[in-house]
Amino acid sequence: MPTIFVILLVSLLLFLASAAPAQQPTLKPVATVKQLMKAIVIPSSDAVFQVAAKEPKNEEQWAAVQNSALALAEAGNLLMIGSRAKDRGEWMKQSQALVDLGTAAFKAAEAKDVDAVSKAGDEIYNVCESCHNKYMEKTNEAK
Ligand code: HEC
Repeated sequence: MPTIFVILLVSLLLFLASAAPAQQPTLKPVATVKQLMKAIVIPSSDAVFQVAAKEPKNEEQWAAVQNSALALAEAGNLLMIGSRAKDRGEWMKQSQALVDLGTAAFKAAEAKDVDAVSKAGDEIYNVCESCHNKYMEKTNEAK
């Protein structure tokens, strides 16, 4: 009986569709790029840059550097979301570099390796500069 078969098939498909994993929620940027710089990128990179001048002395201080490096790496991901991404090329490359170098700084801080954190910090600084050279409004540079 074909009609019954069709009904059963449609029911089965509907059941499978409803049982399918929920669609990933759309990522919705909250902060502007400037706010993200102030809220996450600047304080977390400062903590990483500081290591070269002032060596962390105990577990707590190293943990703070590790957390900052993680925040910086994740900020790279946040820069790539939605309207914050200025283009699909150079912007993504610079943001990805922040993810990779933030990760390198985290691993170096995990190993309590001052030289490696400093080296990652220097490379991170170059990424800040090259992204700003291309994307920061000239009027903002005077600030
Ligand atoms: C992917 C690109 C990109 C990267 C990487 C990046 N920035 Fe920025 N940053 C910007 C842009 C674009 C602005 C200008 C935002 C605006 O004025 O709307 C900005 C603004 C700033 C400002 C000025 C904020 C103000 O008050 O006007 C500072 C300071 C800053 N960034 C620090 C950093 C540091 C430190 C790093 C590296 C750890 C970094 N940024 C990495 C894109 C980037």
